[in-house]
Amino acid sequence: MIRRSLHRCWTYGKIHRDRAEYINATFLHDTNCSLIVSLYDDEKTQEWVANELCTLVQNVRNGGHAYKAPGPNDKRGPCPGLNALANNGYINRNGISTPEQVISASSAIGLGPDVAAGLAALAVIAGDALTFSIGNASGTVGAGTSKHNVLEGDASYKSCDCNNCPTINGCDNFDFNDTVWTTTYNAAQLNGGLFGIPTFQIAAKQRYDECVANNSKCVFGPIQFVFHYFTPCLFALTFPNGTDGKATEDIIRVWVGYFYENGQRKGMAGGGQIPKNWYPHDPPRTFVDAAPCILAIYLAHPVLLGAKVNGVWVPSAEQIPVNATANDIVCFTYQTIFKATPNIVKTLLAVASYLNPVFTVKPWNCPVFKTGH
Ligand code: HEM
Repeated sequence: MIRRSLHRCWTYGKIHRDRAEYINATFLHDTNCSLIVSLYDDEKTQEWVANELCTLVQNVRNGGHAYKAPGPNDKRGPCPGLNALANNGYINRNGISTPEQVISASSAIGLGPDVAAGLAALAVIAGDALTFSIGNASGTVGAGTSKHNVLEGDASYKSCDCNNCPTINGCDNFDFNDTVWTTTYNAAQLNGGLFGIPTFQIAAKQRYDECVANNSKCVFGPIQFVFHYFTPCLFALTFPNGTDGKATEDIIRVWVGYFYENGQRKGMAGGGQIPKNWYPHDPPRTFVDAAPCILAIYLAHPVLLGAKVNGVWVPSAEQIPVNATANDIVCFTYQTIFKATPNIVKTLLAVASYLNPVFTVKPWNCPVFKTGH
């Protein structure tokens, strides 16, 4: 009896191994799956094979991280990093993620534990401290990243200001918008086509000026400052392939999710993906790298914090000094994330648990933010 079961088990195991080898051999030389798809005549089956079977096989091959376009119920939002991480399965593909997933996914793309902790704190703010939506709000998981003027803000480098792109559901402040991107793209053309720090020194000021000039509800407060000057450093330092460190359009556009059709740039719904044959920067990027980057972009053209009130630009009482140091910028970021946190004890404590171990110790020594504001 035992012998017969063992034999059956061995036989099934062999069949599975043989099948796996067969599938592997068939797909081995057909990496984009076109050969397999061409074996089928009708369009529906071809579509199924391309979308489901090929993704499944590629997924098994690269540890669950094949690109798959989001389905109609999956959340996607304004952040190209989170969209790509979801499309490649580094965070939940349905777009409802957790701060802990943000930390592990950040490490997979070459961000150090300190930057990951800062991003996890943002995830806490976007959600209910345990889970969050990378797009719009969903059930009980808080505001979501798309909610205007919570985290998402004006003067983005690739999406429209909320007030300038109204829709029936609110506004489109998350999709790729070519008018906005043209400002960023043109700045890159002045810098050898690269999306590095010199490009964002120009684009940051221009996108700010466009907000002040063209958006009657433009808001540029502390949290917008943090995103406006920190995210270019993700474009410049994190998105390039670790092999050559170059922020070329070919790399950036895969992350952001746009392509060329008849010479026109077109955004992909749901964002981009991690480029093929891409390696994270080694060693991982930390705030020691990010702080001078933020400072270099801001100090190239310092701007005033402020907001439109009844359509008129009013500068804020609080401003960033033009002699700010890297330490000032890091401590300002630390305080700003706290100030953007909903005044809920559980949420404040969760943010503190991520931020305090990073920012209140060496090399930054920021004054501890007293939770409860
Ligand atoms: C994990 C690594 C991450 C990377 C590589 C990344 C990268 C970026 C980049 C490059 C942008 C600028 C896009 C633009 O100009 O529109 C951006 C925007 C944004 N990100 Fe992320 N991000 C990450 C994580 C997060 C997290 C954890 C959150 C919050 C939960 C977040 C929320 C946002 C939001 C709300 C925006 C839009 C900001 C704006 O309105 O300009 N991101 N991100």
